Amino acid sequence: MLSVRAPATSANLGSGYDVFGVALSRPADVVRVSRAERTTISVSGVGSQYIPEDPDRNTVGAVAEALEAPAHIEIDKGVRPASGLGSSAASAAGAAVALNELYDRGYSKTELVPIAAEGEAIVSGVAHADNVAPSILGGFTVATSEGVTCVDARVPLVACLPEIVVSTRDARRVVPEEMSIEQSVETVGRAATLAVGMCRSDPGLVGRGMDDSVVTPARASLIEGYDRVREAALAASATGVTVSGAGPAVLAACGEGDRQRIALSMLEAFDDAGVDARVYQTRVGEGVTVY
Ligand code: HSE
Repeated sequence: MLSVRAPATSANLGSGYDVFGVALSRPADVVRVSRAERTTISVSGVGSQYIPEDPDRNTVGAVAEALEAPAHIEIDKGVRPASGLGSSAASAAGAAVALNELYDRGYSKTELVPIAAEGEAIVSGVAHADNVAPSILGGFTVATSEGVTCVDARVPLVACLPEIVVSTRDARRVVPEEMSIEQSVETVGRAATLAVGMCRSDPGLVGRGMDDSVVTPARASLIEGYDRVREAALAASATGVTVSGAGPAVLAACGEGDRQRIALSMLEAFDDAGVDARVYQTRVGEGVTVY
């Protein structure tokens, strides 16, 4: 038996739609694998009742097939499904690293990214690497059709997850199909600022670079209380706030020592909007780790 810890992730970071992602130091899934004649899956933990155990309908089944690595795979969910925190990507990333190790397949972590992304695609229909890349590699990642680059970063974050379900399908449907050249210039500027901020582990630059006037405002409308929560986090000294992935989690960047105040302010603001929520005081963290 081999066990790995696979971190939650936050994709987009406002200005980097379908490109940027970060690994979060918490929450995480735990994936345990042992060799078997054919693949079987068991799921426990947060939201496990919504996750199919049929290998043809679960991301990790597709990963086992791609690696020709049949196994019994136990997934202990710490990352709630449909949270905007890369739940299915964490399981796919964990399974890819664990099965590669168990069967000594010899793939590098970078080579495992498209394998885990394809696993996600078979089940969810979309093969974005912006969640699996940071879950496998850790740090801040830039995923494009040419490949993935990553950098280690030390930036404190707060992720607040409301008890709302937003389907990725709906969240993608509201994204505008076009943007003006002015919006493009503004978005490139912000994305570049964010990337420099990650390279320098500078929360001020990261927060400034999270601003986005194209995708985020459209998605915020699907999250009850979003504007209130954003304002509360900024008033509590967050350096930037955005929708995490496709939502509904809301992500704030901040300086060291500010996380607790921001976490409480976000919870209170969701509460004022009549929405239950839980909060993670987290940071940009490492990728899948083998126990
Ligand atoms: N970049 C993706 C999105 C992440 O925002 O829709 C979820 O798969």
